[in-house]
Amino acid sequence: MSQQPPRRHGTRKPYRRPTKDPVRVLAFEALRAVDERDAYANLVLPPLLRKARAAGDFDARDAALATELVYGSLRRQGTYDAILAQCVDRPLREVDPPVLDVLTLGAHQLLGTRIPPHAAVSATVDLARVVLGDGRAKFVNAVLRKLTAHDLDGWLERVAPEYDEDPEDHLGVVHAHPRWVVSALWDALGGGRAGIEELLAADNERPEVTLVARPGRATAEELLAAAGEDGAVPGRWSPYAVRLAEGGEPGALDAVREGRAGVQDEGSQLVALALAAAPLDGPDRTWLDGCAGPGGKAALLGALAAQRGAALVASEKQPHRARLVARSLDGNPGPYAVIAADGTRPAWRPGAFDRVLVDVPCTGLGALRRRPEARWRRRPEDLDGFAPLQRELLRQALAAVRVGGVVGYATCSPHPAETRAVVEDVLKGRGGPAAEAEWIDARPLMAGVPELGDGPDVQLWPHLHGTDAMYLALLRRTA
Ligand SMILES: C[S@@+](CC[C@H](N)C(=O)[O-])C[C@H]1O[C@@H](n2cnc3c(N)ncnc32)[C@H](O)[C@@H]1O
Repeated sequence: MSQQPPRRHGTRKPYRRPTKDPVRVLAFEALRAVDERDAYANLVLPPLLRKARAAGDFDARDAALATELVYGSLRRQGTYDAILAQCVDRPLREVDPPVLDVLTLGAHQLLGTRIPPHAAVSATVDLARVVLGDGRAKFVNAVLRKLTAHDLDGWLERVAPEYDEDPEDHLGVVHAHPRWVVSALWDALGGGRAGIEELLAADNERPEVTLVARPGRATAEELLAAAGEDGAVPGRWSPYAVRLAEGGEPGALDAVREGRAGVQDEGSQLVALALAAAPLDGPDRTWLDGCAGPGGKAALLGALAAQRGAALVASEKQPHRARLVARSLDGNPGPYAVIAADGTRPAWRPGAFDRVLVDVPCTGLGALRRRPEARWRRRPEDLDGFAPLQRELLRQALAAVRVGGVVGYATCSPHPAETRAVVEDVLKGRGGPAAEAEWIDARPLMAGVPELGDGPDVQLWPHLHGTDAMYLALLRRTA
């Protein structure tokens, strides 16, 4: 009789119910929404966090961790994909998207945070068991174990091409930017390796929350005093700016709740302030913001105009965004009107305004810090889509201003095709009649701000100025 092997009772690992960690589950839900519905993380996350806090599942630390997991995973997605591709035995595109999201969350915890590796692996495998099931959790476990073989620098040495072989590809993998974005930013910035590396690294930092005290309605001192206990410091350049310490909540401040102050990047404040300060001969009574939604710059311009006895018309094509503009201008101390209108088919008579701002729709390559998924969604072809609209909006802005009046052309992209090239095309009459206008040097209108370039336009940079990469050209209509 053949001998049966002894039954191996008790040698198998006992079943352990996975821990359902609300922070990781929420981060996974947010990544799914961004992936599946093309949603924006900065719009998806706040309601999820509010719901979790209302349900008593979350405290402030949990919310901070969930935000870090979502933003970090999205920002570094390209780098993590390159690394994960080395740990998975089939092309990454054949991995189910929800599995890939869990792997990316695991990769970020392992390679981009200080969470100890064993905790990162076990939390991610538990997440996989909850949201994917035990079978796929085993796959996740196997991949993450391979991932623990190196830290981020170790992996980058293995997956990034040598800088000397292909500088743009190297920087793209190391700093998690698509190659064409590295190339475009480098063209705009100029200079050598150090500058572009600093810029790309700055794009991966979470921006500070900056407030604006709307002139005549609140002061920076008031905001500093109110936010004092949480820690807040004055802005670097704008006299109306206050920078909140990490974790500071704008909504907790009376001035913000009452609309006397708002959240606004300091670069945006500088653009509005420069337009308002540009020298003007003759009357200074009527201002136009031709692309106003959601209304950040309009609210600052409205307050500045009121101090000077001028009126602001804030115009925005999208009706729902025009409603946001109306909300941000509510309580403005001077006269204003909000209209929903297409800036390429003006609803006003030519030459009606003394100052005009067009903060045109653009690729947003200057605000990558705020929109973690944007760099992977944008395509170089998007530039071709924006250029004709940008030119037409500038042309119409120049037609809307009186002779001697000033137009500010702004973008939150530093890409040359959206900045200087658009202005030069309009001045030289490419793709339409030449505009009769001359450059105003914008640099003296940003007093005290260093490294503004050779002028006459200005380009701000996250790594040099701590702002979004806002561009501003100022033009005076001459005939
Ligand atoms: C960069 S955003 C403006 C941001 C705004 N200045 C602020 O500070 O809050 C560009 C805006 O232009 C609007 N827009 C797009 N096409 C337009 C058009 N043809 N006429 C007027 N506005 C337009 C977009 O809906 C968007 O709200």
